[in-house]
Amino acid sequence: MSIRHVLDISDLAVNELNDVLALAQVPVAQLGAPLSGHCAALIFEKPSNRTRHSMEVAVVQLGGHPVYTRGEEVGIDVRETAEDVAQVMAGYHAFLGARVFRHDVVQRMAAVSSVPVVNMLSDVAHPLQALADVLTMQQQHGNLQGKRISWVGDFNNVAKSLAQACVMLGAEFVVSTPPQYRPTDSELASINSLGEGSVQYVAAPAEAVKGSVAVHTDVWISMGEESVAAQKAAAFAGFMVTQHLMANAQQGACFYHCLPAHRGSEVEAGVIDGPNSRVFEQAHNRLHSARGLLAWIFQQQSAAVKDSAQS
Ligand code: CP
Ligand code: NVA
Repeated sequence: MSIRHVLDISDLAVNELNDVLALAQVPVAQLGAPLSGHCAALIFEKPSNRTRHSMEVAVVQLGGHPVYTRGEEVGIDVRETAEDVAQVMAGYHAFLGARVFRHDVVQRMAAVSSVPVVNMLSDVAHPLQALADVLTMQQQHGNLQGKRISWVGDFNNVAKSLAQACVMLGAEFVVSTPPQYRPTDSELASINSLGEGSVQYVAAPAEAVKGSVAVHTDVWISMGEESVAAQKAAAFAGFMVTQHLMANAQQGACFYHCLPAHRGSEVEAGVIDGPNSRVFEQAHNRLHSARGLLAWIFQQQSAAVKDSAQS
């Protein structure tokens, strides 16, 4: 049995990422209900709107039954270890989705789980968001090969997964953060190695967005970072995406944000609520891309079952 855990975008090969994005656009009725008769565990250690709803709906659309569980109820590494949670739940569910504070928790679950583990956001990765973001950009801008896409703000979990996906799809990804929050050279090298595109650091936001078809940002203070909120808010003060900043990007450039957003912090209201904002297209694509990923994961499994039956 081929178990495909997806803890970050780099768990997919470039052709597999393209297959997932293609499946995201296949009508539900053509997907054949691969989760029929199965349940899926969705465990959330942090709050969620988009991820919970898109994953629950995707599971139902694929014929399955989602079981939402709050982190404190399961008590990963509190009531029992992440390994015990994964091995118990793998006996009930077709896959385990987990939103966790620490990335090593999803890694430890995947290491022992007999069913796929899907990272629904950790401190370092948000692959489900990156899938929706590149799908939305492809719909807006066509093939991303050679297109400049910029990120202005915290180089956080959302930014890291998006950088991976963009490099894999051949885009030029540019990151602009205050120097003390910049990606390390080894982080940049490791993302650069994933595909034909590139990722680079450009300190000044106005320089970073030049020539960009898409400008992305996210909150400066992610869930779990509340204790450093004041320090980060001060450091990122010059990194708000404003209409003035957007004027430096390619004419007609679109604005993207994974949401939830804070108007007046990382983005000016005039940008996120303006005509070039694509944030609700992104949010709606969370459903289609989640369904595409799940359909792909179960296609891999059924192909492996067929192969082993023939051998
Ligand atoms: N973008 C995103 O993951 O939103 P939620 O935290 O609401 O799931
Ligand atoms: N970077 C944010 C994304 C929320 C969807 C966080 O981790 O809180």
